[in-house]
Amino acid sequence: MRAGEYRRIRVLERKREAEDTESIYFEDPLCSAASPGQFVMVWLPGIDEFPMSLSRIGGVSSITALRKGKGTEALLTAEDISIRGPFGNGFSPSAGKKVLIAGGIGMASLLPLVAEGDHVFLGARSAEYLPFVDEIAGRCAHLRTATDDGSMGFKGNVVDLFISARPEGHVYSCGPMGMLKTLHEHKIKAEASLESYMKCAIGICDSCTINGFIVCREGPVVRDLDRIFG
Ligand SMILES: Cc1cc2nc3c(=O)[nH]c(=O)nc-3n(C[C@H](O)[C@H](O)[C@H](O)COP(=O)(O)OP(=O)(O)OC[C@H]3O[C@@H](n4cnc5c(N)ncnc54)[C@H](O)[C@@H]3O)c2cc1C
Ligand code: FES
Repeated sequence: MRAGEYRRIRVLERKREAEDTESIYFEDPLCSAASPGQFVMVWLPGIDEFPMSLSRIGGVSSITALRKGKGTEALLTAEDISIRGPFGNGFSPSAGKKVLIAGGIGMASLLPLVAEGDHVFLGARSAEYLPFVDEIAGRCAHLRTATDDGSMGFKGNVVDLFISARPEGHVYSCGPMGMLKTLHEHKIKAEASLESYMKCAIGICDSCTINGFIVCREGPVVRDLDRIFG
C-alpha cells in the first residue's frame, strides 16, 4: 500500500476535545508509521477533500477536527471516511527539551511531540475552546494557557504569554498565520506548521504555495519563518 492510495477507514471511537472539536480514532498501518507534523487528506465523497494533521500516531491513530464549514461538519458525524497520506515533512526530532506554542486547533499537529519536561503554551479565544488540556497536563508539568477573554490562564495572546516566560528549548509552533507572523516579528526562532489551501497534496497543483514554498511537499513544517515572512 502506498501513501498516495485512498484507504477506507472505519471510525473506531470519537472523543470530545473542546467546544466544536472532536478526535476521530482509526487504525491505518501507514499512519502508524508517520512522523509528528505529517498530515492526511480526508475525502468525504460528494462533500470535499481537505488536510488534517495526525493528532495521535500509533497502533490507533487520530485526527482532530474543529468544526468550521461543511467539510469538518460532515467529518464530525461520518461513520467511515477515506484518507490518503501521510504527506509532507513533519517536525525535526529534538534530543533536548521542547517548547511548543499552539493556537487552538494547531495543537493537533504538536500533540504527538508532547513529552515530560517540555513546555507547552496553548492559546484560544476562551477556556471551552482549549483542546487536549487534560491529556497535555498528564504528559508534562509545564502547560500554560492563554485566552483572549481571560477565562483560563493568561488574558491575551499565546505569543505574549511565551515571551513573558521564554523557557529554554527548541521551539515548535502551529496556529493561525497571524500568530506565526507575530513570532517572526519578535524574531523568535521556531519551526512552524503552516496552513494553506490544498488540493493534490503531492506538490503538483501549486494551490498551496506561499512565497515560493510548496507547503504540501516541502512543508507543512517550515524550519525558518524567514522563508515565509522574510
Ligand atoms: C497541513 C494542514 C493540517 C491541518 N490540520 C487540521 C487539523 O488537524 N484540524 C482541523 O480542524 N483543521 C486542520 N486544517 C485546516 C482544515 O483543512 C480546514 O479548516 C478545512 O479544510 C476546512 O474545511 P471546511 O469545509 O470545514 O471549512 P470551510 O471553511 O467551509 O471550507 C471552505 C472551502 O475551503 C476549502 N478549504 C479550506 N481550507 C482548506 C485547506 N487547508 N485545504 C483544502 N481545502 C481547504 C474546503 O475544502 C472548502 O471547499 C489543516 C490544514 C492544513 C493545511
Ligand atoms: S496542494 Fe498541490 S502543490 Fe500543494
